Amino acid sequence: MAPPADLREWIGLLEREGELTRVAAEVDPDLEVTEIVDRTVKAGGPALLFTNPKGSDHPLLINQFGTERRMCLAFGVKRLDDVAARLEDVLEMQPPQGLVEKVRGLRKLKSIADSMPKTVSRGACQEVVLTGDDVDLDLLPIQRCWPGDPAPFITLPAVITRDPKTGTRNVGMYRMQKIDRRSTFMHWQLHKDGRMDYLAVDGKLEVAVALGLDPVTAYSASAPLPKHIDELMLAGFLRGEPTELVKGKTIDLEVPANAEIVLEGYVERGDEGIEGPFGDHTGYYSPAEPFPTFRVTAMTMRRGAIYPSIVVGKPPAEDAWLGKATERIFLPAIRMSVPEIVDYDLPVAGAFHNCVIVSIRKAFPGHAQKVMHAIWGLGMLSLTKTVVVVDEWVDVHDYEEVFFRVGANFDPKRDVLLSEGPLDHLDHAPTRQFYGGKLGIDATHKGPAEGTREWPEEIVMSDEIRTLVDRRWSEYGIEAEPGADGARPRSLRHLLRR
Ligand SMILES: Cc1cc2nc3c(=O)[nH]c(=O)nc-3n(C[C@H](O)[C@H](O)[C@H](O)COP(=O)(O)O)c2cc1C
Repeated sequence: MAPPADLREWIGLLEREGELTRVAAEVDPDLEVTEIVDRTVKAGGPALLFTNPKGSDHPLLINQFGTERRMCLAFGVKRLDDVAARLEDVLEMQPPQGLVEKVRGLRKLKSIADSMPKTVSRGACQEVVLTGDDVDLDLLPIQRCWPGDPAPFITLPAVITRDPKTGTRNVGMYRMQKIDRRSTFMHWQLHKDGRMDYLAVDGKLEVAVALGLDPVTAYSASAPLPKHIDELMLAGFLRGEPTELVKGKTIDLEVPANAEIVLEGYVERGDEGIEGPFGDHTGYYSPAEPFPTFRVTAMTMRRGAIYPSIVVGKPPAEDAWLGKATERIFLPAIRMSVPEIVDYDLPVAGAFHNCVIVSIRKAFPGHAQKVMHAIWGLGMLSLTKTVVVVDEWVDVHDYEEVFFRVGANFDPKRDVLLSEGPLDHLDHAPTRQFYGGKLGIDATHKGPAEGTREWPEEIVMSDEIRTLVDRRWSEYGIEAEPGADGARPRSLRHLLRR
């Protein structure tokens, strides 16, 4: 099934699939929504449409991405790996041989060409236009998420800017603390492309903020693409249809025509204030720091616009599945640079940057260390604090198995690599902000060239006996049948089914 074309189609799909609950009771966006959503997310519950948020006429949609099933529905796939496979198909394109391959190759090229956003003359996002003094962020049910947050925050925006030198568009998801009816802060962290655009201007930088998009475009705003690649092109490729854009009313930027709400405006170098603290996805409050002020010149909307939100906090929270989508979708791109990587996993509890488990096809002494350095040099993965490397036959998504390999295979004196480098903007643990230690754990099998004694053979039951026991299991009268591999309980696999 094709991914939904806009937020309303998405809500319809969620409802038909039994994945959405409408909450008619009046609920306060000030903290109350968070407590409800946090309980719902942690119980694996449905998306919630608050139709009567206190103080606003606009319904509030939340937890749209909160489970693997909903994430797959958003992309119109059975497994998130199916999305990765489509990208891999394009990335691995070889010169075609023979007519059939040429036709297939042309189709692939067409799917790339069709991904380019296209400008249209009218968009539903401009059915209502408020400019100047009529702009009023108080109209929206913006959440204050946690008790220590000083103000409400817009949490699920797609923020659009243009590189002043190259003209390349950037779309990113950055929280926006409301200052008053017509301004917010823009939380562009140190390593983000959005911030680069801001730093590249002397004066004003125009900014558009799209709220309430189809789920794939909303996801794409959070995707860690290299700066020169337009996130809206990724959205078009993943949806199989170009993103339609309309010209802004007060700025020279184009905005997604299907958005529920668009904020147009600008930031200006030097116009900054103290943003935060904010209860963040690390599970702690991020500190108050200076960030640019976003001044809103127009607020445009669909009639009856639906406001989207997300709560981040102690993992697991709704953003876990946005992160998992990135983990799966970017595996082929990572393999382009580091082909010996078989698979990787960013445990949700590791808040994305704290830990990466990676399995490799090990071919030479020090290979695990090579991969650790590669990860510390790759895009946003470079901010990873801990890298655990295991052999290709280890299931990186099975944390019990990984823990077993670490316990069994590593010598802390020989197999730990301590390094240092850039760290996530929000990481409160390092002594200095942005910079600190890195830990690599080599849990692969080692050979004599890596200074080990003879490596012992791993215990595995013979195929003959396994088949025999499979065949006779019902005769034994033992109720609980272990997994098909017969070796381990299901452990944490149910949390991260693949
Ligand atoms: C729910 C959510 C909230 C986020 N909030 C922020 C934020 O406030 N600031 C930030 O720099 N990145 C934030 N991110 C991460 C960025 O969206 C992500 O790194 C993105 O790739 C940045 O795009 P850019 O590199 O093009 O700037 C958030 C991600 C999610 C899923």
